[in-house]
Amino acid sequence: MAPRPIIIDCDPGQDDAVALFLAMASPDELEILGITAVAGNVPLALTERNARMMCDLANSQLPVFAGCAEPMVRDAISAEYIHGETGINGIDVFEPKTPLQDEHAVDFIIDTLLSKDTVPVTLVPTGPLTNIATAIERNPAILPHIEEIVIMGGAMREGGNRTPSAEFNILVDPHAADIVLNCGRPITLMGLDLTHKVLSTEERVARIGELNNAVADATVGMLSFFHRYDTEKYSSQGTPLHDPCTVAYLLRPELFKTKDCNVSIETESELTMGHTAVDFWHVTDRPRNVSWAFDIDVDGFYDLLTERLARF
Ligand code: RIB
Ligand code: CA
Repeated sequence: MAPRPIIIDCDPGQDDAVALFLAMASPDELEILGITAVAGNVPLALTERNARMMCDLANSQLPVFAGCAEPMVRDAISAEYIHGETGINGIDVFEPKTPLQDEHAVDFIIDTLLSKDTVPVTLVPTGPLTNIATAIERNPAILPHIEEIVIMGGAMREGGNRTPSAEFNILVDPHAADIVLNCGRPITLMGLDLTHKVLSTEERVARIGELNNAVADATVGMLSFFHRYDTEKYSSQGTPLHDPCTVAYLLRPELFKTKDCNVSIETESELTMGHTAVDFWHVTDRPRNVSWAFDIDVDGFYDLLTERLARF
């Protein structure tokens, strides 16, 4: 079977970086057409640089594009307090050899989707949805060329991680999230209810550390830094590995439990801005626009991640 064509749209971020590594290690299943960066955890100039650094570390010759530096409506917020001032604290920063493409990420997404008239493309956003929503708004003709959008974002019972009501990716650009979730294409959304189960415990990180390659070592370094904030906040046994769950879903969907639900985004109230209202029990007649991923085989996930990181 031919590998599935994907575009990863991200805001590296340590967990975005691990998602990139997992995808890069899976060429039989995934054809990465390009990596598009968006402002999120840290400003765009750093997220695009960080994405290119991961290509160098993985020795992957992939095109990297810079996208939107600001959300569609709201002022930008970022998360250096979690990810560090570089966005990927835990490893030494270097100037990557992988070049930044001249084309804007939104134009790349549009051009690539329209050129793929035979095989539709899966979009894998692991940051704010600004690039994806802007592409849809600018040229809705891309929609039939989207196979599926597999998103890390939102929360249901877990509550928010940036505000009491909102998960960071959705909060940064709730208007973009509203556009994407209502675009009419198949969407799989995995929020904090799932990713907070995927904890990078010391034992799991140690297994990765035994792999002895540059990518695994970088992963250990980044997770060791990323670890400190969440473990203190949640008194958990490790930091949740949010973004790699999207790629793992593409590789081994049987590890996940999902349910078709309506998910609506709060874009008015400042109190609950960016909230994902997940109608899990179908108490409304709103359209079931999302496959809500709510559970995962965590050991199966880390077996997959460790096996793939061993390939570098
Ligand atoms: O809330 C978790 C999400 O926000 C992850 O994608 C993390 O990288 C940050 O972008
Ligand atoms: Ca991210």
